[in-house]
Amino acid sequence: MNNLPIGVFDSGVGGLTVAKEIMNELPNENIIYFGDTARVPYGDKSRETVTSYSRQIVEFLMGKEVKCIVVACNTASAYALETVRHEVDIPMIGVVKPGARTAASATRNGRIGVIGTEATVRSHLYNDYLKKLSPNVSVFGKACPLLCPLVEEGWIDDPVTEEILRRYLKELIEKDIDTLVLGCTHYPILKNAVAKVTGENIRLVNPALETARELKKLLEEKDLLSSGTAPVKHCFYVSDGADKFRDFANSILPCEIIETKDVNIKKF
Ligand code: DGL
Repeated sequence: MNNLPIGVFDSGVGGLTVAKEIMNELPNENIIYFGDTARVPYGDKSRETVTSYSRQIVEFLMGKEVKCIVVACNTASAYALETVRHEVDIPMIGVVKPGARTAASATRNGRIGVIGTEATVRSHLYNDYLKKLSPNVSVFGKACPLLCPLVEEGWIDDPVTEEILRRYLKELIEKDIDTLVLGCTHYPILKNAVAKVTGENIRLVNPALETARELKKLLEEKDLLSSGTAPVKHCFYVSDGADKFRDFANSILPCEIIETKDVNIKKF
């Protein structure tokens, strides 16, 4: 069991920011990554749709004999995780809870902003976890749907992206937040651009970092850490556009991906 891979999935390329942190935190673990590139974005879809997509992906990953699953997508973590995790007998974690935990301990004035997809913000899951952890915090959510396409276009340090960030973040800055959760897989890639707009007094929280730490703790507790004798081997699957995915992955990950395979996810 210990040397089985970890399943990681996302609506597309964004979850690679989470895979990267897992590779850094757990360098002896093999990863099987699935990106649902044919059906991205999840952020404007309903809870029912995101849950049924997630269920298919979990089914696919279970067929690959993973020892646990990380829902690297904030939207799927917010909409589907609570339902789907009860349908399998292996541990499953998402990115929202770890992100909320980091934000709750980072804030000094108790005023926290959360940016994410429409679905993540609408789900209120970050708010719910934050309120559970610290009942007195005030949480302000803001959906930023234009940011994912900008990241995928490669407009990372670009005046257009900065202007859009300025517009999105204005109302959160005016609420006097001191902590901002980057509650979407793509946003850590924009961290420098966000910091330019928010200034140094607002702490930026990347849920991927804490998720990787939580995963390590979970594997330790369940005695599932890899014994790490063989060299690691990561496998990447997508539902469309394998070549484009591979190029993006190679711009983010600390290792080079040689091959990405296409999967017909609808048959799961
Ligand atoms: N991966 C998604 C998330 O973290 C962003 C992209 C999408 O809308 O599917 O919420």
